[in-house]
Amino acid sequence: MSDGSGELKDKVRALRAEFDREIKAVRDSSALQALRDRYVGRKAGAVTALMKTLGALTAEARRQAGQDLNRLKDEVEQALETAKASLESNLKEGRLARERVDITLPGRIPPYGRRHPLTAAREDLEDIFLAMGYEIFDGPEVEDDYHCFEALNMPPDHPARDMQDTFYLAEGGLLLRTHTSSGQIRYMLNNPHPPDVRIICPGKVYRRDDDITHSPMFQQIEGLVVGKGITLGDLKGTIEAFLHALFGAQFPVRFRPSYFPYTEPSVEVDLGCVVCGGKGCRVCKQTGWLEIMGSGMVHPAVFEAVNARLGRVVYDPEEVTGFAFGLGIERVAMVRHGIDNIRLFYESDLRFLEQFPG
Ligand code: DAH
Repeated sequence: MSDGSGELKDKVRALRAEFDREIKAVRDSSALQALRDRYVGRKAGAVTALMKTLGALTAEARRQAGQDLNRLKDEVEQALETAKASLESNLKEGRLARERVDITLPGRIPPYGRRHPLTAAREDLEDIFLAMGYEIFDGPEVEDDYHCFEALNMPPDHPARDMQDTFYLAEGGLLLRTHTSSGQIRYMLNNPHPPDVRIICPGKVYRRDDDITHSPMFQQIEGLVVGKGITLGDLKGTIEAFLHALFGAQFPVRFRPSYFPYTEPSVEVDLGCVVCGGKGCRVCKQTGWLEIMGSGMVHPAVFEAVNARLGRVVYDPEEVTGFAFGLGIERVAMVRHGIDNIRLFYESDLRFLEQFPG
């Protein structure tokens, strides 16, 4: 034949064979798209280019060649679609295989967090006092000499200052509070109205102290009650009630005369040893008693210092009385759990911490 249709037929066959070879090698959708462009793309497709040569043929030859070309185009497009569908389903199967969940595996139980024994002790103490109608007051850890010592009846040369070796800061005569008793002064100065005080002040305190029962940083809870007609009997009843709530009513509470500059009279409070029940053991040093806290009736000099700062008499020692107390939170937790080394609380060792109930 000389009309060119035989030549075209050969080209169609060759193109078809080439396409069949190439499509087998396609592994991803971008290669597939490139193949589509090369064969049936509107601009550069090889099949498209052949279609454009049809015009040069005789009408008779064009009809036959046109049919051949259209079939080629259809078959190529069909093959491309099939390849596309199978690529997509492979992709999905691969993903499903990778994301397969084995529902027969045993579950993983996430580790539970828990309260630190010191947090638990502080919150238990707070709850007891909140239930008795106390308010929680927060004082600063960075203090000055006035709030920490002077207003608490400890003038600069007072020997009681030796009881509390202090961390002084470089600037401004500031220091780290050695006890939460400074909270008493802060509260009264902040509340210069007819006194009816019932607060606790929990927080961190700092001293130059470091051995197995003393840490340079530890925590205390201060208590202050002021009003008309508050007596030592109120002090004793309150402290006994709270120690019984905390440790259990089976442990006796004992009050001994003591000395603190900011209370008069001052009392030291002992609790029957919770470890041996009073028989005598290592924890109570064979005495049967644990020293648990200090307290006393607020010294009139403390009220007078507050009044002097306020510039008028708000806390009149002729009119009102009060009691105060202070105890160490670490001490409570150590006694409670029979722990003899205070450092265990700060080492974040899970083997230690996980022994306490969540
Ligand atoms: N501030 C004392 C201490 O650090 C504890 C204390 C004793 C507080 C007697 C008081 C108190 O309020 O009346 O050891």
